[in-house]
Amino acid sequence: MTLSESGPQPFLPASVYGSAAIAQQERERYAPQFWHPVASLDGLPPGHSLALEVQGLPVLLTRTEDTPTAFVNRCPHRGVALLAAKAEARACRRLVCPYHGWTYNLQGDLLAAAREGDFLTPFDRRQWPLAGLGCEVFANLIWVAIGSNPLPLAQQLDLVLQEAVDLLDRPRVLLAQQSRILQCNWKIAHDNTLDDYHVAIAHPTTLHREQGPVRQYRHALSSHGSLLATPYPAGGEFLTFGLAPWTHLLFWPDGRMAVISFPPLDPQHCRMDVWLLGHPSLRPGADAWMEEVLGFLEEDRLLVESAQIGYASGLVPGPPHRLEQRILQHQALYAALMGFSAPELLP
Ligand code: FES
Ligand SMILES: [Fe+2]
Repeated sequence: MTLSESGPQPFLPASVYGSAAIAQQERERYAPQFWHPVASLDGLPPGHSLALEVQGLPVLLTRTEDTPTAFVNRCPHRGVALLAAKAEARACRRLVCPYHGWTYNLQGDLLAAAREGDFLTPFDRRQWPLAGLGCEVFANLIWVAIGSNPLPLAQQLDLVLQEAVDLLDRPRVLLAQQSRILQCNWKIAHDNTLDDYHVAIAHPTTLHREQGPVRQYRHALSSHGSLLATPYPAGGEFLTFGLAPWTHLLFWPDGRMAVISFPPLDPQHCRMDVWLLGHPSLRPGADAWMEEVLGFLEEDRLLVESAQIGYASGLVPGPPHRLEQRILQHQALYAALMGFSAPELLP
């Protein structure tokens, strides 16, 4: 899919980066098509629950044995959240609504309602389960679908399955986690993390050292993802996957993995979530590793926040470079899903 019939696809126009109407459409048309990594599996032990928010939707994760389950965190009676959102999972055997006490098991079945004999119409508990959401585990992460008809997760992650299959099931726990607010549209941050043109210039002493000479870059594209692979000095390759909707998975040959995501907040702000996962024996070095990752991400923050100002001042973006093709690939997918498949449909 290209945005232009004549010549190579240009970058998306600046108008797409600051519009409240576009941000709303992204919430309705784009985000619900995908699966979102929301927690590491080890952060939700069996018999625990975790409440969080994904793109404005309150989500409740529970885990009985091996498999986690996701629900909308909303009591079917009057809509109150069963658990307040909190960073850490809580041990719990039952979910009791704080409003009128409807009580659920961790599979979302209603077990009891207060004064159950006195409803004004016949009451059948089986008609009032919690609303379920798609929930899967991949690479030690829990992925949740917030739409009713998401793309199959294996399709969203097709390139990861092709290129990192040996690295997926390594023993791995969450070692460190940080979030920052960025003063830019999520697409500027996502574009930047797909941008292999800037690394040698903008990160000469940080990421560029990890990725090595530009002439050794290897690229791969699939329908929903892109890969930059670079030789790793100690052997193997360092893999950086750019994935819809706004996520990047980085794999080191020793099994370490980083997740960098840019969920949108409003047209001018996004969150940057950074998770580092690896073998439990790496815990003592986790803070130093996070510091290293945040080092190049701070270099990026200055650039993306500056680009946001440039885009807001009426920029017509310049020509894409060969090393910016991962950006174009994502922008083509985004434009197609948003219904911008012809230039006249662009805002
Ligand atoms: S809102 Fe939950 S029991 Fe009434
Ligand atoms: Fe960068």
